[in-house]
Amino acid sequence: MARSETVIPLSTLNAPRDTLRRPLHDLRISVMDRCNFRCPYCMPRDTFHDKYRFLGSGERLSFEEIVRLARLFVRQGVRQLRLTGGEPLLRANLADLVGDLTSISGVEDVALTTNGILLAQHAVELKAAGLKRITVSLDSLDPEVFKRMSGGLGGVEDVLNGIDHARRAGLAPIKINAVIQRGVNEHTVLDLVEHFRGTDVIVRFIEYMDVGNRNDWRPELVVPSRELLALISERWPLEPQERQYRGEVAERYVYADGQGELGFISSVTQPFCSDCSRARLSSDGVLYTCLFASQGTSLRDALRGGASDDALLELIGTVWLKRADRYSEQRAQLRETSAEQQKIEMYYIGG
Ligand SMILES: C[S@@+](CC[C@H](N)C(=O)[O-])C[C@H]1O[C@@H](n2cnc3c(N)ncnc32)[C@H](O)[C@@H]1O
Ligand code: SF4
Repeated sequence: MARSETVIPLSTLNAPRDTLRRPLHDLRISVMDRCNFRCPYCMPRDTFHDKYRFLGSGERLSFEEIVRLARLFVRQGVRQLRLTGGEPLLRANLADLVGDLTSISGVEDVALTTNGILLAQHAVELKAAGLKRITVSLDSLDPEVFKRMSGGLGGVEDVLNGIDHARRAGLAPIKINAVIQRGVNEHTVLDLVEHFRGTDVIVRFIEYMDVGNRNDWRPELVVPSRELLALISERWPLEPQERQYRGEVAERYVYADGQGELGFISSVTQPFCSDCSRARLSSDGVLYTCLFASQGTSLRDALRGGASDDALLELIGTVWLKRADRYSEQRAQLRETSAEQQKIEMYYIGG
């Protein structure tokens, strides 16, 4: 659990910049490759069936290994950590990890993305461990549409109950991630907006992305953010907000009548690669420099092979210095190449 530690120098003057001059600022850590949902856009059931071989517990990074690597990432410039998965709340004692990560000097923010099903039972301990804010995925309030998008697992009421517990535990802000797919849940967008309007919960609409190779993504299934913006603002006028920091992925809007905020994440129609400062660590310790990557570098192998902190720091720095990824900006060309066939899956790398 949370404890103080020796202060390390945190100058970012020597922090690496990649080939496009982008600094390393955020680290997404997948703590669990398994999930208790089978969202067809992420873990379609025909691939992720009962016999699918997920990682064994010894293959996943231990909490001690995650914390050691997180400290090194902080020395390379990282200030924000997000725990994700798969479903992160399936990882036993996750609050202990949150406590350790929030106490690393230099970490400004630790966040968590969850499908919310187990949130009611964990919200209080997560808050007590130092988690401030949380993102809950919820694609629709319509029970039938929800089931279709979760692969038939869980229920809207469980997620809403989880959000309620998070709010009462004092986690703030609470953000909702909603992936909108053409012909699947676009007709339930206004209901979702209306439900959270006037509360302090911020809904963010995410364009359906071609992560991995198993979800049968097609461009015509993407509902562009500008279409949703037009739909919502016709009913409730919206005002655009300035970006709060370089690399902020959501375009933010507030309701003109003061009833709160909502956002759009438009990685398909308005790529933000030029400002992307995010690295990703899979649950088995592979470092990836893009959500759409096909290859990574195993930090776990180096770490379990006895590498010193200095050697690991150098490895992380070298990977970042070589980074040239800008998949979303090059999507159209890259989708025609063979590399497209080998993209890693989102449940594994972490959303
Ligand atoms: C991979 S999940 C992991 C955390 C947790 N299981 C959850 O669902 O919140 C993280 C986020 O990625 C989003 N996501 C998954 N597949 C996606 C896709 N193909 N396009 C856009 N977003 C996607 C999910 O909706 C979720 O908000
Ligand atoms: S989006 Fe999240 S909840 Fe859905 S299958 Fe992927 S990891 Fe699980």
